[in-house]
Amino acid sequence: MAFELANVAHIAVLMIMLPCFVRTTCPNIISRQEWNAAAPSSSKSLRENPPSYVVVHHSVTRMCNTTEDCKLLMKSIQNTHMNTNGWEDIGYNFLIGNDGNIYEGRGWGIHGAHAISYNARSLGICLIGNFEEYPPSESQLQALRELIACSLEENKLIEDYNLIGHNQESATLCPGKYLYNEIKTWSHFNNNPK
Ligand SMILES: *[C@@H]1O[C@H](CO)[C@@H](O)[C@H](O)[C@H]1NC(C)=O
Ligand SMILES: [Zn+2]
Repeated sequence: MAFELANVAHIAVLMIMLPCFVRTTCPNIISRQEWNAAAPSSSKSLRENPPSYVVVHHSVTRMCNTTEDCKLLMKSIQNTHMNTNGWEDIGYNFLIGNDGNIYEGRGWGIHGAHAISYNARSLGICLIGNFEEYPPSESQLQALRELIACSLEENKLIEDYNLIGHNQESATLCPGKYLYNEIKTWSHFNNNPK
């Protein structure tokens, strides 16, 4: 009898813990501290949080294939955004290197500087490279899928979110024709964003 009760207790503990093990969608994200980010000069929260849009961009820089090189490139992009553009921080919420890693930009819940009419209500995600010239790698696309899945799981994006390219917001080639043609085939892509 005591043995059976112990088993019941054991199973109950397992069932309580199971959701922790099932939550495996969130990939590793290289933090600002890890890429040695400068502190933002200011920051504010999204107006709509969780946001309803994911806006996809490319960086129009060289690509980076190693984590060491991607960290340097993150610093360089942040420098350009803060010191040349005069923005308060790197423009995007997250960036993704050709090393397959996700890099924290402004992070979740923070108002971005990447697509004027969506900055207050979107997650701005930039794939590092120039996808007008060549296609994104499968590892970059996989990281993008995982980041979206993780955002949903963590309640950082509404379930019924819209996926769009920067070019749908303004006259730009961003995120490049190869990346744009790719995301056009994904679920949640919105051909007619509001
Ligand atoms: C980076 O990887 C791409 C393939 O994804 C390759 O074409 C390119 O030459 C690599 N660049 C460097 C500097 O290794
Ligand atoms: Zn863009």
